[in-house]
Amino acid sequence: MTQLVVLGAGGDLTSRYLIPALGELDAAGALPDGLTIVGVDRQPWGDNEFRRHLASRLDRHHASLLSALRYQPGDVTDARALREAFEPAGSPAVAYLALPPHVVPGAVRALGALQLPTGSRIVAEKPFGDDADSAHELNTLLQGVVAEEHVFRVDHFLGKQTVQNVLGLRFANRVFEAVWNAQHVEAVDIIWDETLALEGRAGYYDAAGALRDMVQNHLLQLLCLLAMEPPVALDERSLRDRKIDVLRAVRRPTLDDVRCHTTRARYRAGVVAGVAVPAYIDEPGVDPARRTETFAAVTLFVDNWRWAGVPFTLRSGKALGADRHEVRVRFRPVPHLAFDQDHDPDPNVLRLDVDPDRVTLEVNLNGAGDPFHLERASLAVDLAPQELSAYARLLLDIFAGDPVLSIRADEAEEAWRIIEPILHGWRTDVSPLLDYPAGSAGPDEARDR
Ligand code: BG6
Repeated sequence: MTQLVVLGAGGDLTSRYLIPALGELDAAGALPDGLTIVGVDRQPWGDNEFRRHLASRLDRHHASLLSALRYQPGDVTDARALREAFEPAGSPAVAYLALPPHVVPGAVRALGALQLPTGSRIVAEKPFGDDADSAHELNTLLQGVVAEEHVFRVDHFLGKQTVQNVLGLRFANRVFEAVWNAQHVEAVDIIWDETLALEGRAGYYDAAGALRDMVQNHLLQLLCLLAMEPPVALDERSLRDRKIDVLRAVRRPTLDDVRCHTTRARYRAGVVAGVAVPAYIDEPGVDPARRTETFAAVTLFVDNWRWAGVPFTLRSGKALGADRHEVRVRFRPVPHLAFDQDHDPDPNVLRLDVDPDRVTLEVNLNGAGDPFHLERASLAVDLAPQELSAYARLLLDIFAGDPVLSIRADEAEEAWRIIEPILHGWRTDVSPLLDYPAGSAGPDEARDR
């Protein structure tokens, strides 16, 4: 693998995630030997302007990557322009689609017309289509250009240490798996609250919204890891087979479910961490008529033997008062409490925090004074910061040709099956569009979610 061609190299994804991750790998000596990196986009830049555009995104320890970057101006949907970027008759290439969703099909067609060297890989970013049909069409298109095992659908959450740790915690310990079911677990919350607001991403986000941006992919993937059956091995087939089982078992929400189990909202003007944030609708590039949500909370049910009746709540919002990235597994109360107290103690909670990574088990213990009085204690372990960023980890897999942490075609389609009825219900106002001040904890209606 000696050529990486980034289609959409002038965009936000390239500068925010991809280039810093490549810089990390370069500094760690982990890039494939002799790798050339070529960016393609519409901006009429030369190599130097491209490098200048990206320089501020690279940590000074990672700046040596800059000299390796090349740039090819052109339309990514035009095969002739792309031909200039790929080395003719070169070794297998990675074509990275860092593109807005509406440009992706045209770019894939152009790659098809190029006839990429055998063994080449295509990397696609979410959202994969915008409903099950368009995801299916996109999958067919991609598979017409390279084999499925060479399509890498990136979900960078799968490169996060704590997300991967769900597997370690569940399947390398006896204590949790025994109680990991509806008999013992009352509810599971997957929360991704962000203080970040729009950050100039209206071009992408205003057409996506929180449900498509976070829930349809990242949070559903977390749900899969939390709810799946033990895989036979941690290889691409076993792991992804077990994940798709979960997605298939998630009940497709009815309109009534949308009414009762979903919340959507949009931020008003407010203050986040002491900084004034304009209302979402006043952000440059936002079309208020789209009524895009910046907060989404949905409760889903996994209809299988293990999880019947347990609510899984997936929640994410922008411009909130605090960053809170956590999974909470809330256990049921003990069947009988012999302790005579005014209030029953809260049941156990297992919490997995992401960034910083921490695992906490909340338990009830005998108090220091009256031994028959219970006190709450937290057994917590802080995990060392992850050595490579999530994107860097996924890139390593892509270069190595291992799709274990990438989303398989059927997963991408199945995730839409779950999300489509919610999108439909929201479009038809089955659940109202609420608002919340930037810097708050989100809409009151979602407080208990
Ligand atoms: C991205 C979303 O995929 O994930 C962003 O598009 C979001 O809106 C981001 O902020 C969150 O992930 P991370 O790793 O940047 O915290």
